[in-house]
Amino acid sequence: MSKYRKLIATTALAATLTAGPALAEKLGLGRPALPEEIAAWNLDVSPDGTGLPEGSGSVEDGEALFVDYCAVCHGDFAEGVGNWPKLAGGEGTLADKDPLKTVGSYWPYLSTTWDYVHRSMPFGNAQTLTPDEVYAVVAYILYSNYIVEDDFVLSKENFLDVEMPNADGFIVDDRETAEAHFWQDEPCMENCKETVEITMEAAVLDVTPEETKARKVQEMIDATNPANKPAEAKVEEAAVAAEPAAEEPAATAPAAEEAAALDPELVKAGEKVFKKCKACHQVGEGAKNRTGPVLTGIVGHAAGAAEDFRYSKPMEKAGEEGLIWSEDELHAFLAKPKAYMKKTKMSFAGLKKDDDIAAVIAYLKSFE
Ligand code: HEC
Ligand code: HEC
Repeated sequence: MSKYRKLIATTALAATLTAGPALAEKLGLGRPALPEEIAAWNLDVSPDGTGLPEGSGSVEDGEALFVDYCAVCHGDFAEGVGNWPKLAGGEGTLADKDPLKTVGSYWPYLSTTWDYVHRSMPFGNAQTLTPDEVYAVVAYILYSNYIVEDDFVLSKENFLDVEMPNADGFIVDDRETAEAHFWQDEPCMENCKETVEITMEAAVLDVTPEETKARKVQEMIDATNPANKPAEAKVEEAAVAAEPAAEEPAATAPAAEEAAALDPELVKAGEKVFKKCKACHQVGEGAKNRTGPVLTGIVGHAAGAAEDFRYSKPMEKAGEEGLIWSEDELHAFLAKPKAYMKKTKMSFAGLKKDDDIAAVIAYLKSFE
């Protein structure tokens, strides 16, 4: 990070010294940066200690400063409050699925901690700490990570002696040589594929909210904003809102009755399996055709019959010839779609486990 910053700083400096002033004058824009301004920008500290100012600070002083300026967010012991970042802990978690990356467990250079704290903390009051205070606070963060003892004093002189636990955890990117064999072929730059097909759309994957959905959410937000309605209207609406709730049990009763024939556990398992289908299929209330047809009521229904869906020729034909999606037929289809029906448009490898197939069929049955 600090290398990057330095690059920007040097580039900005070079630009200021060369093209900057002349161009600015010509265009009547701006003025050359003052040396103080450049100095204020140029405060990065490198892993080798370049950029560190003179100074020092003890764990003891750091603790008092930390409690005053940092603990509200990062906790008294740098353990983090709520969702604010934890600055300590996490040793040995880097290979976990959900690693805890802190100054102690992850950061390879102490200079990053010094630079970060000096440059941007306390959050919202950045750059209010003196160099000595930053040394002290950094010493305290080290202490919280069991890297130094409580009588430790951090200074410019001993800065590089501190051993960061993950110092060797980063490697130089050597892919250019280590993976050179991948890059030897001339890259294909035109007509590389015979045909190009769109296999999926962002809207199908629900990456992009539909406009109507977004509008609905906005309406809900507007509706719940007290600023948007007069006081009496609110009372009235509360009364209205209470009514449909009272009717609800009656409205859902038939569905509940039907579902009772199904094993709820199995339906639940099927809902999970259906995640594999969701990229292409919708089911239930408000379901629409996507890459695949709507599947509401599909169990026991004629094949190829969803309204306005363009099926493949073989699926259309199967429907015309009377194929009904009985549980057995569905089972065979879902196990190996392409083997069951050559040239079906359903680009899905199939479900390997019989249990998964039974579960997803039960789930589909719960939407009649
Ligand atoms: C008001 C809350 C708040 C206060 C007070 C605060 N911080 Fe932070 N701190 C944050 C937030 C938020 C981040 C993450 C910022 C980001 O990711 O852009 C952060 C990040 C950090 C990090 C980097 C953590 C990481 O692993 O990325 C360090 C180190 C840090 N703070 C030190 C301090 C120190 C030292 C103080 C006191 C001098 C302090 N902070 C005061 C909110 C706070
Ligand atoms: C990559 C997209 C995709 C995935 C994933 C997918 N399907 Fe399909 N599905 C389709 C398409 C396209 C069709 C239409 C096939 C045709 O016309 O040949 C289809 C057809 C069907 C049909 C026949 C519908 C009818 O109206 O006759 C059923 C049943 C079905 N899929 C169930 C499933 C289930 C269950 C899953 C998950 C286990 C699944 N599909 C996963 C795209 C997909």
